Amino acid sequence: MCKITIFLGLFLTAGCAPSEEWWRDSFIYQIYPRSFKDSNGDGVGDINGITSKLEHLVDLNVSAFWISPFFKSPMSDFGYDISNFTDIDPIFGTLDDFSKLITKAKSLNLKVILDFVPNHSSNKHPWFQKSIQKIPPYDNYYVWRNATFVNGTRHPPNNWLSVTRGSAWTWNDVRQQYYLHQFSYFQPDLNFRSSALNQEMKDVLTFWTKRGVDGFRVDAIPQAFEDARFLDEPVKPNTGLPPDDPNTLEHIYTKNQKETYELVRSWRNHLDAMNGTRKIILTESYITLDELNQSMKYYEYGADIAFNFMFVTGFNNRSTPTDFKDGIEKWLAHMPRGNYSSNWVVDNHDNNRVSARFGKRRADQLTMLSAVLPGVGVVYYGDEIGMEDTWLSYNETVDPIGCSAGPTGYNITSRDPARTPFQWDNSTSAGFSTNKTTWLRVNPNYPILNLAAQKTVSHSHYSIFKKLVALKKKLVIKTGSVEVISVADRVLGIVRRVSGSVPVVLLINFSNGYVIFDASYQLKIPPRMTVYVSNFDSSLPEGVTINTPSLVLAPAASVILM
Ligand code: NOJ
Repeated sequence: MCKITIFLGLFLTAGCAPSEEWWRDSFIYQIYPRSFKDSNGDGVGDINGITSKLEHLVDLNVSAFWISPFFKSPMSDFGYDISNFTDIDPIFGTLDDFSKLITKAKSLNLKVILDFVPNHSSNKHPWFQKSIQKIPPYDNYYVWRNATFVNGTRHPPNNWLSVTRGSAWTWNDVRQQYYLHQFSYFQPDLNFRSSALNQEMKDVLTFWTKRGVDGFRVDAIPQAFEDARFLDEPVKPNTGLPPDDPNTLEHIYTKNQKETYELVRSWRNHLDAMNGTRKIILTESYITLDELNQSMKYYEYGADIAFNFMFVTGFNNRSTPTDFKDGIEKWLAHMPRGNYSSNWVVDNHDNNRVSARFGKRRADQLTMLSAVLPGVGVVYYGDEIGMEDTWLSYNETVDPIGCSAGPTGYNITSRDPARTPFQWDNSTSAGFSTNKTTWLRVNPNYPILNLAAQKTVSHSHYSIFKKLVALKKKLVIKTGSVEVISVADRVLGIVRRVSGSVPVVLLINFSNGYVIFDASYQLKIPPRMTVYVSNFDSSLPEGVTINTPSLVLAPAASVILM
């Protein structure tokens, strides 16, 4: 057994006024607007649908929700391809609908966070159309380069690869140049070296801030700038991957450039200069555990939350307690000194749901971890009821990444399974829509797995989730020390302590067998503790007092004691 103790209190220094730090020690809930609630029966979720369901978020007691894009878009990437950054796509509603959403959210004391997508627009955006025509100042709004020629044959300017595979450059016949797209060809990269474009994107932040939003989740921030020399990126040795796979390259010129951090700082300053309470910035950057500093730097340049995707992409159902312990400790040790908040993302719209990644029996364990660990827990609609991935055929697949993988590869790459409609009840289309046909098919498990059903029983994903949100607000979770313990590499333990009160202890059995151990001795916890919350596999019912020297954990059990 080995452990680390981190005294969070020591790291707290001056920052913004505590009253403005509403996101601290809370849960933030992600809404994928197509799939939350359909108000007009067209089978697609919309803004009025979200407004009609805000009481659910109040009931859960989350502090805020962030909404994936609802801006005007051809929907080639379901809203992450924006053709007007300051208008709402008719499929989702109108600016008036948005005002009603804001008004109601404010009356319910819920904070609203929008998705800001600065790296690219849609290729249908008027800016791009004018850029193709070389109309100033739009000529410089995107990243254009001349072709290179080898033996008279035209080639892209360098070897850069897009996140969605293949060259990051597409030739444009009209302009007779290549344009850069770090994502799909229909998402041309915006050029932040253009001061006019830079100002346009600040104006986008101003537009939504004036309409009452409380902050922004910043999409794909690492890709905002590229090195201006446009040199080839080094090829990683022996990856065994196909040459068009972006993971074959070291992204030293296309990700996390110095100018990118400065850009985030400029948005921080811009938002701070506006009236009203401080606006939250959450940055989306996927990194490996070896690259933690690249993500942490976003904190230092003005992000309040640099998303921590460790639970999403760092671990899977083969990861051991020691893997988790090492990763968690590494994250906490790398947090910059100062008034910063850790965070733990459980799920999002780009990855399989937690129950698919770790197994249905372990669906609540990651939420439990994100509750007990210091800082913010970030959850995705449906996590609170243990929603599962929905199997969809290739013909039903609409995600461009799934579609481009073809019938044999789509089930690995498609993001659709995690995006199916929220399961409110057992009525038509799970109460999501009055329409029997929805943009993605509702999971057939909805007659059993739905919110209304879980509200009628005393122990459910929903009841567990509510207890976890309440736990986040306890002083020991806010300020206590953190110990991460691996017991014989079978049980992961987290112990939070403040002097003068009972510790909070999370225990997760990673093994498929029963584990009987002396938790009192191994974790230095009191011999008698009460079960605050437990998952379904636990033989430890909530509310009972147990003897920790002879603790029995059932396979896949997780339990929080206090
Ligand atoms: C990250 C978003 O989360 C994802 O859904 C999108 O496809 C890419 N950025 C491109 O915008």
